Amino acid sequence: LASTDVTLDHIAEGQAVTVMWRGKPVFVRHRTAAEIQEAKDVPLGQLRDPASDQDRVQREPWLVVVGVCTHLGCVPLGQKSTDPRGDYGGWFCPCHGSHYDTAGRIRRGPAPTNLAVPEYAFRSDTQIRIG
Ligand code: FES
Repeated sequence: LASTDVTLDHIAEGQAVTVMWRGKPVFVRHRTAAEIQEAKDVPLGQLRDPASDQDRVQREPWLVVVGVCTHLGCVPLGQKSTDPRGDYGGWFCPCHGSHYDTAGRIRRGPAPTNLAVPEYAFRSDTQIRIG
C-alpha cells in the first residue's frame, strides 16, 4: 500500500503504536507534556544531527518516525512503556546501543542520523495518513 491511515484516538498519552508502511515499521507516539518539553529544551548544538523538535512534528503531542535505526537497520525498542528507552527517553537500539530522544533524534551510540520522519498528513484531529 502506498499510504497507511492511522487512527489516533485510542492511543493514550505516553503510549505508541507501530504500523507498517511500505514494508517498514512506523512509530506513532503520543508524547506526554514532559516528553515534549524535554525534546524542546535540548540546545541544537548538542545534537549530532541538529533538528528542532518543531521541525520534526506537525502537532506537538504526535511524533511520527520510521522505526528503523539509522545505523544498520534494527528496530529500536521503546514502543511499550516497559521497554528500555535509552538514556534520553525515546528509543534504544539493542543491536549496537544507539539512544534516541523523545523527538527521535540520535543522542548517543553509532547511528549517524535521526530516525526518519515519513511524509504524512493529518486528515482530522484523530487520523493521520502516512505516505
Ligand atoms: Fe541500531 Fe546498530 S543497528 S545501533
